[in-house]
Amino acid sequence: MCSSDLKVRVPATTANMGPGFDVLGMALNIYNYVEMWEISDGLEIIVDGEGKGSIDRGKNNIAYLIARRVFDRVGHEPSGLGIRLVNEIPTARGLGSSAAALVGAALAANVVSGGQLTEEEILGMVSEMEGHPDNAVPALVGGVTICIEDDGGLVYRKMAPPSELQAVIAIPRYELSTEKARSVLPKRVSFGDAIFNMGRVGLLVHALERGDLDLLGLAMKDRLHQPHRMPLIPGMGDVFSAALEAGAVGAALSGAGPTLIAFTAGDGDMPNIKAAMEEKFKDHEISCIIKDVRPDLQGAVVLDENGGK
Ligand code: HSE
Repeated sequence: MCSSDLKVRVPATTANMGPGFDVLGMALNIYNYVEMWEISDGLEIIVDGEGKGSIDRGKNNIAYLIARRVFDRVGHEPSGLGIRLVNEIPTARGLGSSAAALVGAALAANVVSGGQLTEEEILGMVSEMEGHPDNAVPALVGGVTICIEDDGGLVYRKMAPPSELQAVIAIPRYELSTEKARSVLPKRVSFGDAIFNMGRVGLLVHALERGDLDLLGLAMKDRLHQPHRMPLIPGMGDVFSAALEAGAVGAALSGAGPTLIAFTAGDGDMPNIKAAMEEKFKDHEISCIIKDVRPDLQGAVVLDENGGK
């Protein structure tokens, strides 16, 4: 197999950020890489890193599926396709690994086919496959994003998070599919719970825009999805409390979970927060990987062979 110089880097994402279910998301500095090149015949997919051995390497691979959609949309017919996925983002943990694969492959396929699609068109295609836009948008544009769907189209805005905002993620060593984590959600919510979340989303956006990080603890509370998902993540409430007691300014379920994320202002409390989250998960017999992360501000980038943009 030969390869090309086309490589796209896409960040992990933490969706929802507490109350912003399917609306808010933030890019994180953990990355997946997608390489794509045309070959004379057939399909050849290589997977390295996270998901090696478990990710489908045939025609149901999501990177291939979105590349096909891009080619069909612009009328490009490659004789064959090579795709290499080099993954740092753990799969099915609530860190946007599928959105990263889709965004990376859609961007790569767009370059391969002559760059005919706009950012909006690519986002529309990725969100349609994902079923929600809150991972896809920050994966593509970076930073913190607010995204809504209106009349079949996406409207989104990006904010730069405060420079001192950092986070600890506790990634349990088990997978939880988004499908399963969405299946436990109620079909209807109460007026009171909707008001509870609306107010907090407003406060959260204000806090992130103004750097008022002391508001995050209050503004990240949620009644729409986290309480229903708690039984799927043993120890979730205790880990949140432990992180906050150790100095975190806010805590949330990352996307559909099972990863939990605790936000900090600077890195002074990081060692205590990391230890507290790991210890508390251990009390509930959950082993996890602990990482400190920062927001990614760039989003997806097409790299040249030297690693430059
Ligand atoms: N907003 C989505 C959910 C994110 O919570 O189900 C999935 O990664």
